[in-house]
Amino acid sequence: MERVRTIALLGGGQLGRMFIENALRFPVQVNVLDPDPKAPCAALAHRFVVGDLNDVDTVVRFAADADVVGIEIEHVSVEALERLKAMGKRVVPDPGVLRTIKDKGLQKEFYLEHGIATTDHVLIEDPSEISRHAHLLPAFLKLRTGGYDGKGVMPLNSFADISSAFSGPGVLEQQADIDVELAVMVVRSIHGAIAVYDPVEMVFDPRFNLVDHLRAPSRMTPGLIEGAQKLAVQVVTAFDAPGIYAVELFLTKKGELLVNETAPRAHNSGHHTIEACASSQFDQLLRVYMGWPLGDTTLRGPAAMINLVGEGGDGRVAVHGLEDVLAIPGTFPHLYGKEKTRTGRKMGHVTVLAESDVDLDAAIRKIKVSCKVLPEPTLPNDLTGTT
Ligand SMILES: Nc1ncnc2c1ncn2[C@@H]1O[C@H](COP(=O)(O)OP(=O)(O)OP(=O)(O)O)[C@@H](O)[C@H]1O
Ligand SMILES: [Mg+2]
Repeated sequence: MERVRTIALLGGGQLGRMFIENALRFPVQVNVLDPDPKAPCAALAHRFVVGDLNDVDTVVRFAADADVVGIEIEHVSVEALERLKAMGKRVVPDPGVLRTIKDKGLQKEFYLEHGIATTDHVLIEDPSEISRHAHLLPAFLKLRTGGYDGKGVMPLNSFADISSAFSGPGVLEQQADIDVELAVMVVRSIHGAIAVYDPVEMVFDPRFNLVDHLRAPSRMTPGLIEGAQKLAVQVVTAFDAPGIYAVELFLTKKGELLVNETAPRAHNSGHHTIEACASSQFDQLLRVYMGWPLGDTTLRGPAAMINLVGEGGDGRVAVHGLEDVLAIPGTFPHLYGKEKTRTGRKMGHVTVLAESDVDLDAAIRKIKVSCKVLPEPTLPNDLTGTT
């Protein structure tokens, strides 16, 4: 391929915005397509186009002049990506990989076919089938397609819960006895080189089913760290296509590592790499797009990433406690530029680097109590004036 001059990015959210922040260091044009005219990328993209990511013609027309086509969200037209690939463009992730990953059922089958450890599961067409698989309860039911950020996933603890189960095709999987949830970012270049980051520990916020914060390095034995990295590399090797991948894993209380799911794109669990690693996930993705050598994944020291998630309802965003966060040594706040907040919406994050695990714990706690994202009109009294 000739020199890459133009990247067409499908999706204009915070992942695209952080990608552009880094890509601006180089003479490459990044165009973005998103249905929301006020998406986080709107002010940063070289060319920002408002349009439907699932409309084949819109996507093909948007990316027609690009050398590389990338995504920052899975909910895009795979058919359009296939057409763009047939037109000779470098499409990352490969449309075939995205087709498998977008369907949680196909994704699970893929792991089984490739001998990759994952939770026991069955594919069902309808919740009426759940009673036939009682041995899997307590379980998780996941819609095969269309879910994101924990939506489309529900725990089923007993038969009593079946009446409220999602309708439509799903994956019913046994509840894993989770000790720690991990994510491993893996990069594969267009030449087949692999780079892998340190596993991160993810701590979930049960209110929103979203990552509350993550920390790196994980506090596992060196053997488990190596095992997690090997499993993640096995997944990416099986997909056999360039890109950046976030492989989400469960470490069970019995010490078993299982693949939960994979995202073929930059991911929330890699945000800390911007400040904590020599080459960030966004830098690596650019290297993949450009056909450049991969970067250094070494973690500089203990790091955490705390998501700033909207609370208290809808409205214009008000971030409280930012100055308190800035006063903590080693913090790097990122606000995504979203005008409107709503409960459970990812509005930003704070990365913090620390000297030790103990300092890191203290910083995480401080950031979590200092910083809140609320809608403007409904300020609780105790937070008024702390902006
Ligand atoms: N089999 C399981 N056993 C135990 N917990 C599970 C299981 N499957 C999912 N979970 C819990 O539900 C969370 C969300 O599940 P999953 O990652 O499959 O969904 P998702 O909608 O893709 O989420 P996200 O987009 O936030 O990654 C997991 O991180 C985990 O906490
Ligand atoms: Mg997940």
